[in-house]
Amino acid sequence: MEFGPILIWRGTDSDNVSLAAVMSLRSENPPLGFSVGNMPVDPKRLAEIDGHVIWRFDFALPVGQVAEYAYGEQTFPVDTRYDGDLNIGFVSCNGQENGDLERDPEERNLMWNDLAARADATPYHLMLHGGDQVYADEVTNAHKLTRHWPDDLSDDFTEAELEDLFQSLRAAYLHRYGQVYSAAPFARVMARTPSLMMWDDHDICDGWGSLKPEIVDHPIAQTLFRAAREAFLLFQHAATDADVPQLFLDQTGRSLAWRYDLPGVSIIAPDLRSERTRDRIMGENGWAAMESATQDVQERVILVSSVPLLGPRLSVLEWIFNTFHIVKKYHDDLRDQWQSRAHRVEWQRMLQTVLNLEDQGATVTAVSGEIHLATRAVMDSPKGGVQQLVASGISHPAPPKLYALSLGTFARLGEAPLAGHPIKIAPLPGQHHNYSAERNYLNFRRLNGLWEAQWSLEDSGNTPWLTL
Ligand SMILES: [Fe+2]
Repeated sequence: MEFGPILIWRGTDSDNVSLAAVMSLRSENPPLGFSVGNMPVDPKRLAEIDGHVIWRFDFALPVGQVAEYAYGEQTFPVDTRYDGDLNIGFVSCNGQENGDLERDPEERNLMWNDLAARADATPYHLMLHGGDQVYADEVTNAHKLTRHWPDDLSDDFTEAELEDLFQSLRAAYLHRYGQVYSAAPFARVMARTPSLMMWDDHDICDGWGSLKPEIVDHPIAQTLFRAAREAFLLFQHAATDADVPQLFLDQTGRSLAWRYDLPGVSIIAPDLRSERTRDRIMGENGWAAMESATQDVQERVILVSSVPLLGPRLSVLEWIFNTFHIVKKYHDDLRDQWQSRAHRVEWQRMLQTVLNLEDQGATVTAVSGEIHLATRAVMDSPKGGVQQLVASGISHPAPPKLYALSLGTFARLGEAPLAGHPIKIAPLPGQHHNYSAERNYLNFRRLNGLWEAQWSLEDSGNTPWLTL
């Protein structure tokens, strides 16, 4: 699949913003001319997968204007005015578990069309992608060794067969990203808007990290992870392993957590997948990365937590599901949450980290996807509360309204993982129920120095702005 250019954010100083543009072209098609202000930019070859070359262009644009770059016959405007008013988008859950590539594009990309029209009127300075950028679950159909994944993993294979599996999976990931990234409204926005992305489970496969250790440690599963990770680096960060020390906080690349700053705002994204096990959300590397990410932050911190950091008392629901042996899938989904009993200590540690950021003088807003609903929550804090915004998913179908209603009722139980800091779920502005079961995405803005957020909902439209 061919796609691109997709812009990836690299950093900014007082003069320039550094960007990378990634694209995939069939091997026989060389990249066309790429230029900034008539100066040609040389492409860098990142990888070759299934008859395609993945190319990257590294370039800089001047800040403080609507700058532009050119590729082929087209020029692309990029709004680089980061000092004053700022618009940041947040999307998550771009797909569905089964048959995502077979959906009617009009219907599938309805909210993307909405977002693209909005971006035409008011360009985003940055787009955050909070997990499940693709639903790759079906990549395991690509090879006989993973056809029954995660069941019946064979121990009877040669090194050559394992390599063959790796190549098939690389091709399958490329195909999936290619189809999702070449969708017209997505391609249009992402050629003009730099993105920052953090993965969740479906960028690897459903429930990665909650699988049993004998599955995760199996050479077939490790091959799956290796292919997913290569795809994450290539397509979500325009990067290869060689770029890891420069782009991510953990120099070893075991955790792919990152932090990037714009004037007045630090954006921090812990990696909740690379080191996940059934009993752990992050390992030593992930926690060390969090430690360094939370030093010397700007006055506003946006914490991208791929699964919601603040939520209802799911441990009770999990206990009920567990006890009554209700569908294992739901149980695994709950195990993915910070609120799972298995992760209580780590959850407290992360919440304490957030409170420590407040002690430094920052105002923290957590933003998450994952649950295919829109909602928000507030944790009491000395500074007036830490807000959690949940926006999910932009193309994943919403669950039944009844499910959202029951979850909303259940959420009234409240939760206080840290003594003295109760968490309360709340409806979106203008909505009556705690959870909105509609496809959606989120908009942040800094307007005259004031931070606000607004959800765009499929049926209800734009919510009023919420002060953050
Ligand atoms: Fe999702």
